Amino acid sequence: MADAKGHDSGLEGIVVADTRLSDVDGERGRLVIAGRDVEVLAQTSRFEEACALLWEAPTEDVVRRIGVARAAAFERLSQLGDALERASAMDALRAGLGHLQSSDDALADAASVVGATAVLVAAWLRTRARAAPIAPDPSRRHTEDFLRMALGVEPKPERSRGLDAYLVTVSDHGMNASTFTARVITSTGSDMISAVVGAVGALKGPLHGGAPGPVLDMLDAIGDPAHARVWLEHELDAGRRIMGMGHRIYRVRDPRAAVFEDQIERLAEAAASARGDEGRRVRERLALARAVEREAESVLAARHPDRALRANVEFFTAVLLEAIGLPRELFASTFAAGRAAGWCAHVMEQRARGRLIRPASHYIGPAPA
Ligand code: COA
Repeated sequence: MADAKGHDSGLEGIVVADTRLSDVDGERGRLVIAGRDVEVLAQTSRFEEACALLWEAPTEDVVRRIGVARAAAFERLSQLGDALERASAMDALRAGLGHLQSSDDALADAASVVGATAVLVAAWLRTRARAAPIAPDPSRRHTEDFLRMALGVEPKPERSRGLDAYLVTVSDHGMNASTFTARVITSTGSDMISAVVGAVGALKGPLHGGAPGPVLDMLDAIGDPAHARVWLEHELDAGRRIMGMGHRIYRVRDPRAAVFEDQIERLAEAAASARGDEGRRVRERLALARAVEREAESVLAARHPDRALRANVEFFTAVLLEAIGLPRELFASTFAAGRAAGWCAHVMEQRARGRLIRPASHYIGPAPA
């Protein structure tokens, strides 16, 4: 929204870079990542392949480097002291990434960031559960190793595939706040690790990446579709926002929501054929989420008739990551595990083509006496 002088504090519509990485069409609800529609990329690519596309590097090389980076990150865990025990998942991730050494090799740094992120997220969860972190297996698929390290059991293949679809889908998204942060830091000539650490700080905020945990809290609090409307009205009357609704760019439903719904249905189907109960739980959760989404749209439309406030990526992230078996305290850091691929790609692009990003401000303080 513009202030009284017309200066737009949210920088809406200001283009700060040419990019080949992703294109967000907010009017039509279309997201293109590295030249592919997100729906196609999520169905056909494992996470390392998306990294390879974004980093313009051979897939086999990227797979190998990320595996090696997971092993190296695990060796360095002891440097973190008690950060894994004391800090929140995002603070532990920020601290852990801060220990990485940058080099002159951008691809090595990017792989090192992505590998370390998975290890740090998993080790944080294990430490919280008073269990020893599990060593990575560099020969495994990244998502399979991520889930194995985090949950301590052999992951079902459909869960690793669901996590691949999730990480690929969130790997890049135009000039979002954390990506912009990474580009600003890079534009000063700083290194990739500093840019990524700054980006984690930006992603931590509830208006950006911190919403899916609260979305699940909301679904728990509502419990039954019949209670949704009253609960939502009460939240808005109390001056709070509905988490997982609204977006700066999208004026229609976020296309990533449908990608996640599809993945949740696949997980429910696989679970139902193995064990009836788990499949039923996932289906019930999805049904509740869809009902709450419909009510939230309607309540928000009544209060903001001029602004389309529809479900964003984080609404169904909550249901998908829960169905994959991850606890809600890990949702924001798992988002970071995917977006790290895009941050690193933007750092490479900014370095290659960008200039110092240095906007101006309008002084409204007192004049000197
Ligand atoms: N719940 C209730 N009201 C909302 C809302 C939500 N989720 N999202 C926007 N609004 C309202 C604002 O209160 C504002 O009302 P006002 O004009 O009466 O003050 C209006 O809609 C415009 O909001 P604004 O903050 O200008 O939109 P934005 O483009 O700056 O914000 C978000 C986009 C994502 C920050 C915002 O929609 C939001 O806070 N969503 C909830 C958090 C979330 O899901 N974050 C994850 C984003 S992917």
